[in-house]
Amino acid sequence: MNASSLLTPHSSPEIPVIAIDGPSASGKGTVAALVAKELGFHYLDSGAIYRVTALAALRAGIALDDEAALARLAGHLDVRFDNGEIWLGGEKAGEDVRSEASGNAASRIASLPSLRQALLEFQRSFRTAPGLVADGRDMGSVVFPDATLKIFLTASAGIRAERRYKQLMEKGMHANLSQILQDIQQRDARDSARSVAPLQKFADAHLLDTSTLNIAEAVNEVLAHYRDSVRQAS
Ligand code: C5P
Repeated sequence: MNASSLLTPHSSPEIPVIAIDGPSASGKGTVAALVAKELGFHYLDSGAIYRVTALAALRAGIALDDEAALARLAGHLDVRFDNGEIWLGGEKAGEDVRSEASGNAASRIASLPSLRQALLEFQRSFRTAPGLVADGRDMGSVVFPDATLKIFLTASAGIRAERRYKQLMEKGMHANLSQILQDIQQRDARDSARSVAPLQKFADAHLLDTSTLNIAEAVNEVLAHYRDSVRQAS
């Protein structure tokens, strides 16, 4: 299987999708959730799907390079998103999904083509009326290639590391800035270098560099681009 075989048609092209892709800790999750709230759209955190799959694999003792077993697990995942809570096998997955361990494990299993294929329809099932804001690495390129608007949201690795460091400190968690920067750089390299659905800005995506923007400014930029797209389409 290759990346092009993932470009299968999806079911609801009439429902608008805003695809926001970008690297770890760029703030895309926060921006995407606020854009969704502003428009009354649903929100898909695709990173959480990869994280919860990784967590399920760690719990089941499946090796992170056992592609066949991971794809089987992903195809039968008992996961539910409910009001910002993630349920795995009938239990709240809680903070474990957000841990650096789950993030790193997610980034490793995310390079496996059959695992990505197994998660494709699940991600597309979030496309329901009145619309969807989807955040990830391949939302505009693979999962929703006909998205109404595609944004590539990024910031320098140094700024992203500082933001993550502040977040962890605010939660009273132990954090080491240089370790965080190293993790972010490693994850970027792995996400960008993989052969299937690599992290990259495609020509049809708008680049939004938030290094010097606050969250409200970034949200307003996305909303302005969305209004332009809707105007141009009508
Ligand atoms: O966005 P977040 O950092 O939570 O994602 C965790 C990992 O899941 C990423 O490092 C990436 O490897 C993977 N991922 C992906 N495709 C997506 C979303 C996340 O490969 N659409």
